[in-house]
Amino acid sequence: MHRRIIAPGALAAASLLLAIPASAASYSPGAPGIGDPYYPNYGNGGYDVSHYDLRLQYQPKTDELQGTATILARTTRDLSSFDLDFLLDVSEVRVDGAKASFTASGEHELVVTPKTPLAKGTTVTVVVRYSGVPSTKSAYGFSTWHRTPDGAVAADEPEAAWWWFPSNDHPGDKATYDVSVAVPDGTQAISNGTLQSTTSKLGWTRYNWRQNKPQATYLATLALGRFDITTGTSDGGVPVINAYSKDLGDNDGAARASVERTGELVDWLSGYFGPYPFSSAGGYVPNTTTGYALETQTRVYYSPKQFANGSNTSVVVHELAHQWYGDDVSLKHWKDIWINEGFARYAQWLWSEHEGEGTAQELADYVYASHPADDAFWTVAPGDPGADHQFDAAVYDRGALAIQALRNTIGDDAFFRILKGWPRTHAYGNASVADFQRYAEQVSGKPLSALFDTWLFQPSKPAAPSARALAGAGTGTEATRPKSWKRIEATNDVHGH
Ligand code: TRP
Ligand code: ZN
Repeated sequence: MHRRIIAPGALAAASLLLAIPASAASYSPGAPGIGDPYYPNYGNGGYDVSHYDLRLQYQPKTDELQGTATILARTTRDLSSFDLDFLLDVSEVRVDGAKASFTASGEHELVVTPKTPLAKGTTVTVVVRYSGVPSTKSAYGFSTWHRTPDGAVAADEPEAAWWWFPSNDHPGDKATYDVSVAVPDGTQAISNGTLQSTTSKLGWTRYNWRQNKPQATYLATLALGRFDITTGTSDGGVPVINAYSKDLGDNDGAARASVERTGELVDWLSGYFGPYPFSSAGGYVPNTTTGYALETQTRVYYSPKQFANGSNTSVVVHELAHQWYGDDVSLKHWKDIWINEGFARYAQWLWSEHEGEGTAQELADYVYASHPADDAFWTVAPGDPGADHQFDAAVYDRGALAIQALRNTIGDDAFFRILKGWPRTHAYGNASVADFQRYAEQVSGKPLSALFDTWLFQPSKPAAPSARALAGAGTGTEATRPKSWKRIEATNDVHGH
């Protein structure tokens, strides 16, 4: 230790320090990541958000977004500072009303230092004023803010929030949302949940959207552009709100012929998964050049390309299945992606069977037979595929095959009780692959660790599960390919960053 001469100023500083509570030593910066093994810097540590209130204004001509985010949170430890994930330009941050200092750090961190440290277990209100042109911002060299001729769209996975609101950007911290957006008259703003009201003033129209159930940050969506909005109610009583870009060209008819069936398909899926968990359903089709669809909560994102070959109810079933598997019950860490994609793909298999285009068993047999043992397909473990293979076809196809193997092992009765019971058991929460295995063992009364290990975790082709799966399996040739196959495969047409 250095010997120092203590100057009077330092003495004053020392006595100031004494004014801070004895526990002050425990106040330290919150972590820049929530602890996800695939994405160490995603989300943040030290607090938990309960609500986002986003009051925004957007100009489509220039892509300028400005607004105020009010974030309600609770600290989970003593904090001297904490991070938000965000890329736009911040002009002011207040914590519990007091101006806080802030600085950008890393690829997408906004480090906020409140005037006084925050004690563990207290509620905090954070106000962030910001503006910026999202299309000029990137992190790790990419952007997921998609400009359209008439505006822009935020809908991507696992990163989309950084370009439009400051957040604890990880599915592990779900929250409710009020999203209020002013756009020039003639432009519409689409987001999650229900449209509470619209108001018009001086050439601007404000859309007030509300998501009243917990929602992961990547499932929050914002679309700004010229849309035709349709509303209805399903037979089962679920309000439906859809929106179509006014510039879908030749894809317009097929898009509407697919997405307008949302209410019917929500009701059909309820038969397998239980009551629809949210206060509205629907989808929107903006004028984007992307290829994928995304299960943005209550308001599914569909690329026009999904309808380039005609109507496509299969993709609608996939994204609506996610409302139970992925949105209501969200993954704990990104490695648990099978909790989302395995089941959304399996729902497409059930729909194929319903439509007479191939049974779930026939689709499983085809997946099994069409990939020889030396195919790299079997090296991807759907139960923990690695960040680079998170959305590999194997996560979907081998993932659904694993679900069929489970069904054949425990029988239809236990299997369908599990499909319906899982969303109820973990409603509005988070769960892992291990949680699913435990639940399936509990409901079926069978030990399943060998089955899960073989089908979800071994980097090799499992031995043929049973004589039943081999019968009719053929060799994965065109002759044995179920009619629904090609359309189902086109669902996860993901063009990576
Ligand atoms: N989750 C989406 C689906 O299953 C697909 C998807 C994977 C995706 N990676 C993506 C979508 C990246 C957008 C961006 O439908
Ligand atoms: Zn999916």
